[in-house]
Amino acid sequence: MEAALIEEIRQANNIIDVVGSYIPIKRSGSSFKAQCPFHDDTHPSMMISDKKQIFKCFVCGKGGNVFTFVQEYEHISFIEAVKKLAERVGIKVEEDKKTQIVRTKNQLLIAVYDEAKSYFVENLNKFGESVINYLEKRGISRQVIKNFDIGYALDSYGGLKGHLLNKHFGTDILKASGLFGNNENGYFDLFRERLIFPIHSSTGKVVAFGGRKLNDEQPGGKYINSPTTAIYTKGKELYGFFLTKFDISKKGFAIICEGYMDFLRLYSTGYTNCVASLGTALTDDQLKLLKQFTSKLYMAYDGDDAGLKAAIRGSIISISQNYRPYIIELPTGEDPDSYLLKNGVESFNELIDKALPFIDFYASSSKIKLDKKARIDE
Ligand code: UTP
Ligand code: MN
Repeated sequence: MEAALIEEIRQANNIIDVVGSYIPIKRSGSSFKAQCPFHDDTHPSMMISDKKQIFKCFVCGKGGNVFTFVQEYEHISFIEAVKKLAERVGIKVEEDKKTQIVRTKNQLLIAVYDEAKSYFVENLNKFGESVINYLEKRGISRQVIKNFDIGYALDSYGGLKGHLLNKHFGTDILKASGLFGNNENGYFDLFRERLIFPIHSSTGKVVAFGGRKLNDEQPGGKYINSPTTAIYTKGKELYGFFLTKFDISKKGFAIICEGYMDFLRLYSTGYTNCVASLGTALTDDQLKLLKQFTSKLYMAYDGDDAGLKAAIRGSIISISQNYRPYIIELPTGEDPDSYLLKNGVESFNELIDKALPFIDFYASSSKIKLDKKARIDE
């Protein structure tokens, strides 16, 4: 690629806008400051200069221009960062031998998941009228369906497979994607006749799927999830985070729930600062993702023993990362989704207002009796 073109792309991408699309930044005099995403930063140690169009962390030393930032943050090569930023501002880059990227396995997997997502979304729009009705009945609007790329897997053993083969993905990468089972007849789609919730990485790439049954008679678990792959490890991503991270930072706290539907319902009722940990208590890795955006957490786990346990575990882990956790107490048998549907947003706001800091909750809760220690050690 010509140096002049690279320079044109650099100038068209203001570093303040680009860095600000990844992490929260704050004006500080004539430049901007942020918590450095390249080391475990507790203060805003990174400076971003509008005038010089550079960033620099005064603690870990990382610094450079807009290309360096994108390259480091996304773990991609220089040329990929240039292309990404060209696309961002609508500059066309002609492919020549030098700029062609040999896609690594991870990049191919990302491309497979992106294509699969598009396929599921298209199925929902073409064949998913009843599925959209199901979602609307549960209070999930078309806009929210779109924001989170919710899709539909047809009742077919070969739909996705055929689609991906048509798009020229090889069988090796399909095997590595974890989206297919294998029997004497060969590979077949694992997600069938299910509502599809794509799981996005914190930068918005689809790295896994959760699929919910559409009726109770169907075989298999209520949800099935993508397995661990080279691009996805369960417990390392937070559902919805790619879209809610800036509201988490703006509102000064995050609401943590357990499930897809809890998240979507919270989001739909205006709690645009939530994330879901997906069937587990929070992990250290998930908490590290959140750290740049807030240090105050409201645990909104289900009102049952498993939910209580998840809230306690998550709180204790979070305290060791210097968070301030609060516990939202839901009535027995309710989750945030069912509670909001029954009682509305005002009532949920009261629960937030009443939420105790974890330590006070732990000391006073009638639900936690003498088996306190056992619960934590389990
Ligand atoms: P829940 O059973 O509470 O489901 O599981 P939910 O989110 O409230 O969904 P609805 O309201 O019944 O539609 C909470 C989370 O645990 C994980 C999913 O991430 C789910 O959102 N889970 C649950 C699974 O991975 N597999 C299962 O079979 C069940
Ligand atoms: Mn539920």
